[in-house]
Amino acid sequence: MRLELRGLTKKFGDFVADDAIDLVVPPGQIHAILGENGAGKSTLMNMLYGILEPTDGQIRIDGAPVRFRSPGDAIAAGIGMVHQHFKLVGPFSVADNVQLGREHARAGMLDRTAARRAVREVSERYGLALDPDAICENLPVGVQQRVEIVKALSGHTELLILDEPTAVLTPPEVAELLTIMRNLAASGMSIIFISHKLREVKAVADTITVIRRGKVVAEVSPDDGEAELAAAMVGREVSLTVDKTPAQPTEKALEIIDLTVLDDRGIPALDGLNLTVRAGEIVGLAGVEGNGQTELARAILGTLAPAGGSIEMAGTEVTRWHPYRRIAAGLGYIPEDRARDGLVGDFTVAENIVLNQYREAPLSRRGVVDERAVRAVASKSIAEFDIRTQGPEEGVSALSGGNQQKVIIAREFSRPRKVLVAAQPTRGVDIGAIEFIHARLVAERDTGTAVLLISAELDEILALSDRVAVIYNGQIVGEVAPDSPRSEIGQLMIGHRLENSPGDA
Ligand SMILES: Nc1ncnc2c1ncn2[C@@H]1O[C@H](COP(=O)(O)OP(=O)(O)OP(=O)(O)O)[C@@H](O)[C@H]1O
Ligand SMILES: [Mg+2]
Repeated sequence: MRLELRGLTKKFGDFVADDAIDLVVPPGQIHAILGENGAGKSTLMNMLYGILEPTDGQIRIDGAPVRFRSPGDAIAAGIGMVHQHFKLVGPFSVADNVQLGREHARAGMLDRTAARRAVREVSERYGLALDPDAICENLPVGVQQRVEIVKALSGHTELLILDEPTAVLTPPEVAELLTIMRNLAASGMSIIFISHKLREVKAVADTITVIRRGKVVAEVSPDDGEAELAAAMVGREVSLTVDKTPAQPTEKALEIIDLTVLDDRGIPALDGLNLTVRAGEIVGLAGVEGNGQTELARAILGTLAPAGGSIEMAGTEVTRWHPYRRIAAGLGYIPEDRARDGLVGDFTVAENIVLNQYREAPLSRRGVVDERAVRAVASKSIAEFDIRTQGPEEGVSALSGGNQQKVIIAREFSRPRKVLVAAQPTRGVDIGAIEFIHARLVAERDTGTAVLLISAELDEILALSDRVAVIYNGQIVGEVAPDSPRSEIGQLMIGHRLENSPGDA
């Protein structure tokens, strides 16, 4: 398929999200789109997939103009899309999810046998292992992503749109996906690939288009250096390294002692885990996703009750405290799943920014919220964190993915705290914002906050951490210095303990 976009434009009211975009994707090409958070990438893809109607301009397939009124039209034309945010129905099986909206419905019923067969076929053809009968919400995010890809490939797909498909994948899963993409392109499929990770883009893209504030600003080459690509994206020089002085850790601010947490089936997700974070240091938790990181973060926040062990903040046991009490006592929390745990979708940007503080002075007096004060706090955060929004009163769900993440970051950085648990703090944010968030995390540390950084990005862990603890199977299997060889950390991450490991904190 040869795809051409001619002057494609999308306005939301007066706001121009995409402004006369021209783009050509020939068959068998991997075309990357780079751009800041809010640049208009997802909006452009949503027009291409029939979710949004263009305000102006044209989509052409093999020379002929097309109009998509729904994703069904786009699918029929051979377009498959993996969305930035999962669209899976949690309680449904893999097979049911793959077949939803596709042709195997008979008399209004899902044809389960055909659905299962389709999943097996696609997963075998592309080497994407999946159990058709698994229930989606029980699967790790990386596997859910695979379901999305299999779903997008299960039609007669000739153009595959991948909107930040790697944001939630582990490094081996990313490598696997890039290989799959190359094979698909070699077989003639066209691919549009959106990612904030320049290394991935350089590794697979044939062509790169950069968009900024809704306009195409450059065509760059995958052979250009990362610094050049970054500068083209955000329109200024970006520092790709983190500046920091050695940590000056003081007293124990967060102590996890023999913590055990059971999953739904009664199997330990955390198995007697011990970890200490001191005031003034960043401890990075490295590990392959699904080894207990999520449960640890939620147990610290208090949304998951441990079966054993204890949690202390500044020497006080908080194991049975309500999350709100922990937050009031100085716990900050950046959740890994922003849609589920981080934002109230029906609230405005301002309401989400003040979520943890509107009940208190100066935002509330005698139980009455001071709307002007709320707006002032929100406006300050919007400016400081460069949140691209039409204003504090805009609904948070209208924001681009990366800007939603910035709302959470702004909230968690807008009040003093003793302990900060930052889970995937830069997931989905652009390279300029990563630079900013990293600098802020170091600044937090330097004011004496204990930071527990949980990240699937080993680069991020190594760049920011003062100590690195490796989690495997619900236990800390070793602690290493952040300048240790990656291979050593990699060994620990897959469960090979080192000789003379210093053990738990
Ligand atoms: N339904 C909507 N109503 C109003 N504004 C919207 C809507 N959808 C998107 N926008 C705005 O359009 C702009 C572009 O958003 P889009 O989601 O396309 O950005 P993006 O380039 O995908 O960013 P990210 O990298 O953060 O995913 C944003 O400023 C966003 O707030
Ligand atoms: Mg997007």
